[in-house]
Amino acid sequence: MIIGGSASQNLAAKVANLLHDQLCPIETRKFPDGERYIRIKGEIPDEVVVIQSTGYPQDENFMELFLIIKSLKDIGADKVKAVIPYLGYSRQDKRFKPGEAVSVKIIAELLEAAGADEVFSINLHEHNIIKFFNIPAYELSAIPLLAEHLSSRVDDPIIIAPDKGALDHAKTMAGIIGCEYDYMEKVRISAEKVETHLKNFNVEGRSAIIVDDIISTGGTIVNASRILHSQGAMNIKVVCVHPVLVDDALLRIFSTGVEEVIATDTIKSEVSVVSVAPLIAEALKKN
Ligand code: R5P
Repeated sequence: MIIGGSASQNLAAKVANLLHDQLCPIETRKFPDGERYIRIKGEIPDEVVVIQSTGYPQDENFMELFLIIKSLKDIGADKVKAVIPYLGYSRQDKRFKPGEAVSVKIIAELLEAAGADEVFSINLHEHNIIKFFNIPAYELSAIPLLAEHLSSRVDDPIIIAPDKGALDHAKTMAGIIGCEYDYMEKVRISAEKVETHLKNFNVEGRSAIIVDDIISTGGTIVNASRILHSQGAMNIKVVCVHPVLVDDALLRIFSTGVEEVIATDTIKSEVSVVSVAPLIAEALKKN
């Protein structure tokens, strides 16, 4: 049986459909004071899969997920698999300054305390985050799905990673599409500001595809797009797994001349055109 939290109901329905599994009805709402309410309706089998992404509003989505997992255990589920397509708090995976919370480690501990038996997530900000879980935890990659979506829509493009962290994604994507790839060097100045080093790319008159795991404020992509345009790129597409898209991020990106932004539905957005449902369904079949 599959249950979709309020952030991932469509995705849960798609996964249930692919697995020919039942979608459990659930009521989720907010009390007038802002607290969350959940009610699981229906008979609970031994094993249940909960799908809930944890983008904005992160705290509410996590709280709802904890309430669902714990309630499932209380009312009779033996095993609960938590599928968290976008794992919020992942970018605070270290104590960068003394006294800071290692937020994603605490999230991992809270999921286990709530009763999750297994966790699945997609393109974690750092692979090492998986080590914070003491229960089986699996990281899936949506990059092949994005590459397959693009492969029939582009002609001899060059794939560009807008920072070194995205280099593996660019390499994987280029391998699937069968084209060149390169990367940029980026320095993060603050949560809102990044600087990207200038470098010459072989983009004159060509299509360029910028690939990243997350678009948050859009600053990383804005810098990358400006550099590629200034070097004569003919058209630029942007692909990402998690469209966090803070405020007017999309507008800022399009205003640099980007032709198209393509993302997955790990987070619902107007550019979430590639579904990760087949990826999740396959992983659930195997584990
Ligand atoms: C950083 O390491 C990530 O891969 C993304 O590049 C980053 O989160 C994007 O943030 P923003 O859109 O705010 O530049």
